[in-house]
Order: sequence, then structure tokens, then C-alpha cells
Amino acid sequence: MPIDEIAQKVSDRYAKAASTGEQICCPTDYNFADLRSFIPEEVLKISYGCGTPAGLKTVRPSETVLDIGSGGGIDCFEAARLVGPAGRVIGIDMTDTMLAIARRNAAVVAANLGYPASNIEFRKGRAEAMPIEDGMVDLIISNCVINLAPDKRKVFREMFRVAKVGGRFTISDIVSDQTVPQYLVHDTQKWGDCLSGALTLTEYIGGMVDAGFWAVHLVKSSPWQIIDGIHFFSITLTGYKPSAVPSESTVRYATLRGPFSRVVDERGTTFQRGIPVRISPETTLLLSLTPLANHFVLSGDPLVLGQSDPRWNAVFPAEAPCIWEGHYALLAGPFVEAVDDDHHVYRRGEPMEICSKTLAVLQAGGYAPHFAIINRAGQNVSGDAVTCSPNEGGCC
Ligand SMILES: C[S@@+](CC[C@H](N)C(=O)[O-])C[C@H]1O[C@@H](n2cnc3c(N)ncnc32)[C@H](O)[C@@H]1O
Repeated sequence: MPIDEIAQKVSDRYAKAASTGEQICCPTDYNFADLRSFIPEEVLKISYGCGTPAGLKTVRPSETVLDIGSGGGIDCFEAARLVGPAGRVIGIDMTDTMLAIARRNAAVVAANLGYPASNIEFRKGRAEAMPIEDGMVDLIISNCVINLAPDKRKVFREMFRVAKVGGRFTISDIVSDQTVPQYLVHDTQKWGDCLSGALTLTEYIGGMVDAGFWAVHLVKSSPWQIIDGIHFFSITLTGYKPSAVPSESTVRYATLRGPFSRVVDERGTTFQRGIPVRISPETTLLLSLTPLANHFVLSGDPLVLGQSDPRWNAVFPAEAPCIWEGHYALLAGPFVEAVDDDHHVYRRGEPMEICSKTLAVLQAGGYAPHFAIINRAGQNVSGDAVTCSPNEGGCC
């Protein structure tokens, strides 16, 4: 299908949904009782997101926030509350019906918030060619939109262009655990349902990194739909447009603390837990970003971390049988590769089958923020428990 035809069909679909109030897409975690205190019902009833990118403590006072595919404006209005009257919010959308609803409610929301004037503006435009000046945005948000765009790489490049140096994004979207086949890609209905246009997690994070963003990592994930064995799930990701690399730094070494026993960062440097690695000022900048900073000790001189050091971090599996229940773990950044203490090698976005023992490990504190977990078993599994250990072979 030609790109303009896809965009027109998506726009027609959302124009119709906005005028009829049809329910589309996914469960979100909005606190509607709270939002109702300042956002009109006309907006809330056409909320078509798959996350809450503005509500995840990502928006800071006085910032300039851009919402790509703002729809009826729910996340713009929440961002307007969080940036305060000194901040600014811009929503862009390609669908006139959506823009009309959002625009007529902007003044109502400003009045409800007690602001002297509205701090929100809605502009008509496509995510692939945003009507936004270079480098003007502190925080880019978007909620279930990029999957609908026919040329996602263009969207990622546009995001990088409009972000300030040191700016960031928090994006909720639908991704899949495997490539969506052509018979679904050409299904207009499922494309409009935020399914057929989904990228795999590997493609999504890789696309953001290729556009220039650093430390792209998972904030939240939840399962959505399974079609013909393809798992679609909602993710919220954050990443950064890097600040200028300082020409000099007192930091020269980084030592991995764990819980991973080995990682490869986005720039290709490998770190073994406890062993200092000489790093460049560029890598120092990368490793200082959230959430990488929690995993490393940065130092001027080489620092070896022993197992008894309180900064050493490891999560070992319990002495328990291993039961295969259909779970798969997908590493969702900020590393391209990471290894646990059971020698599983996780590669960014690639589903890795795990047993109940490993599931418990990955759900523990240090690992949990890095993985999206899906279950590919169609129904309950009744396989026998097996005993295995990494050193004796077997399932792990
Ligand atoms: C699933 S709705 C989400 C709306 C809003 N973010 C929300 O959470 O309610 C998708 C919105 O993105 C807009 N949209 C889809 N593709 C777009 C594109 N390529 N450029 C600009 N807007 C787009 C549609 O018009 C629609 O309003």
C-alpha cells in the first residue's frame, strides 16, 4: 500500500472514531477520576493510547513538551498541568477532527487549572515531517502513534531533530515479538487498530539508537493481543539526545557492578562484572545516564570490585526445580547484550525462552526494569519440573 494511502486510511479511521466516540486500542493506567477534575469528558472518551507517557513522572516544571499524534489531547492536558503555567505544550496530529476537539478544550483546561492563559498549542502535521523548529523540545511524548506511521525511521529522525541537546523522550507504543507478516501488514483494519504497523522490539529500539538517541530503555510493558501466534505488547521507552561530550573528564575507568555478569553497551564496549575498563569521555557520558549509572562505578583509577564489596550486585537463582511454562524474556535496553549468572545471553529485543526459576530471577529488583516478559503458551502448561544447573548442563 502506498504511504499516503496508509496515512489517509489511518486519518479517516481516527476521524470517524473521534466523531462517534468509538473505543479503540488498549488498556491504560490512567487515573480517570483525577483527570476528570480538569479535563472535559469529550476528551477522555476518545483517549486511544496504550500507556501514560505524561503521567510517569517524566514531565518537569517549566519544560517544553511535544506530543506526537496528540489525538483529543489527553496527554497534552496532563503535561500542561505538570509543566505548570511557565511551561509549554505542543500537540501535533494529522487528523482535523481530533485537532478540533483538542483545540476547543485547551481553553477549558487552562481555566480549570487556574492558568492566566492556555500553555498548549495544537498544530496540524505528520509525525514524519513535524511542524516544529529544530532543537526546541525538552521532552517528547507520544501514545500509540508511531506504530501507525508508515515510515517510522523518518519519525525517529524527526524526533532527534526537534529535541534539545540533552533532551529526552518517553514514548508508549505497541511492538511485536516477531516480524508482522505481509497478510497482516496489508490488513487496513488491523493497521488502524495499532497492530499491523508494529515494529519488533529490536527494530524499535534499534531505530531510535540509529537516529542518535542514547540509553534507550524500558520504563513499562504490558501484554496486549495475540494474533496468529504473534504477541503484540505495549511498551513505554525513554532515551536521550546526548549533551556535548566534554573534552576532558576526571573519569577514566568504569567497573560493572551487576546484577548482569557481562554487558555490551550501545557503543559496543564490553564490561565484565568487577573488572575495570578504560573508557572515553563519550562512554563516561553514556554511562552517567539513567538507568546505566546504577550499574557502574566510575573512577579515575582502575577499581576492581570483589564479591564482598557492597557495590557488587548479583542475583542467583533459587535451588528450585525448573518448570517450563511458556515464558520468554526480551531484553529492552539500555544494553545490546547482557548475561546473567545462569549464563543466559540476552540480546536486545530477541525473545529468550526461560523457565520458572529464571523468571523469578528476572523479576527481582536489579533485573526487572530491563525485561519485557511474554508468555507464548496458548494455555496452561503441565510439563514436569526438571532440575538443572548451568554447570551440569540441562535446561539452564
Ligand atoms: C491511537 S490514536 C492516539 C491518540 C492520542 N495519542 C491518545 O493517546 O489518545 C493515534 C492518533 O495519531 C494520529 N496519527 C496517526 N498517524 C499519524 C502520523 N503519521 N502523523 C501525525 N498524526 C498521526 C491520529 O490522527 C490519531 O489522532
